[in-house]
Amino acid sequence: MRILGIESSCDETAAAVVDDAGCVLSSVVASQLATHGKYGGVVPELASREHLRAIVPVVREALQRAGMELPDLAAIAATVGPGLVGSLLVGLTYAKSLSFVSGVPLIAVNHIEGHIHAVIMESRRAGTPVEFPALALVVSGGHTHLFEVREGFAYRLLGKTRDDAAGEAFDKVAKLLGYGYPGGPVIDRLAPYGNPRAVPFTFARMKGNALDFSFSGLKTAVLRWVQARDMAEEIAVRRALLRENPAPSAGQWLAVTPPATRDLLASFQHAVITELLVRAQASADRIDARSVIVSGGVACNSGLRAAAQGAAITRPVYFPTPGLSTDNAAMIAAAAFPKLERGEFAGLDIKADASLTLA
Ligand code: KG4
Ligand code: ZN
Repeated sequence: MRILGIESSCDETAAAVVDDAGCVLSSVVASQLATHGKYGGVVPELASREHLRAIVPVVREALQRAGMELPDLAAIAATVGPGLVGSLLVGLTYAKSLSFVSGVPLIAVNHIEGHIHAVIMESRRAGTPVEFPALALVVSGGHTHLFEVREGFAYRLLGKTRDDAAGEAFDKVAKLLGYGYPGGPVIDRLAPYGNPRAVPFTFARMKGNALDFSFSGLKTAVLRWVQARDMAEEIAVRRALLRENPAPSAGQWLAVTPPATRDLLASFQHAVITELLVRAQASADRIDARSVIVSGGVACNSGLRAAAQGAAITRPVYFPTPGLSTDNAAMIAAAAFPKLERGEFAGLDIKADASLTLA
């Protein structure tokens, strides 16, 4: 049994074919980085336009690479939310029209559930399945959430960010310092060259739910650190580099990153990782989790991976492979299989929901 997944919630147009053994037969992702990079973030109007341009060829390529035609599919799954409404509409409407013309049933998938299923699918395929109850930490540009995941895929929200998402904090700090968008991958590559204890950022104590996150204080602390120093010139040098070359190498970035800035980046990344993993470990303890899932774009972060697989989390930790960490459609198809089993199909009147929640 195979499902075609379609994802267009933010700035990637993606399609993939996955089978019920968790084998990814094809996964095509058209990134819009070149479009949004120069604006330092995703521009919603441009995103929808780019999705419109890409959706037909991306879906066609995913089907071709998998050697499939529409009638070979058990279902067509599309992201219904959360995300940018104009972006979601493109993928969902195209999925509806494919379902209408082919008679293949439509399944609506929550983007966050997709991130969690990327890991569940890969762990099963590797022969080391995630054990339940599991604690899922979903960390991306749009979300920073902790969920309890029980057998049968029942979800309970344990904590979430009260302000910025972790990926958003990476992106804003990188933009402030002249590293462009997205910020996570650049900071990840530069952080190992600095001292993570050089700038003592304080850990946010939360009133109310101690499993909630907050990144705005950290972002403001970085801003103050920058304002207290004369950094205009080095920031201008980096912006100039970015204008010449939209994707500088790690070596090129290092050459325009003085030691104090390397320390700042390392300390910032260390603070984000601490914030994420202290609350993940507390959540895992609270629900007595048998495993921990970390997923979403920020799950690519090598410092986060090393810390989670080291002493910070005292349970088996599962990360997706990098291609399944950032937005993709294989995770959407993966999340659709349990719904196919339960006969949870969507009508053609289903609407995109920009603020859809999982629990
Ligand atoms: O899951 P994703 O592709 O899209 C959303 O659903 O938001 O995540 C994108 C986010 C961006 O904020 C990006 O800066 C962050 O993931 N990211 C990283 C890394 N790679 C991507 N953050 C930290 N370290 C990385 N290596
Ligand atoms: Zn995502």
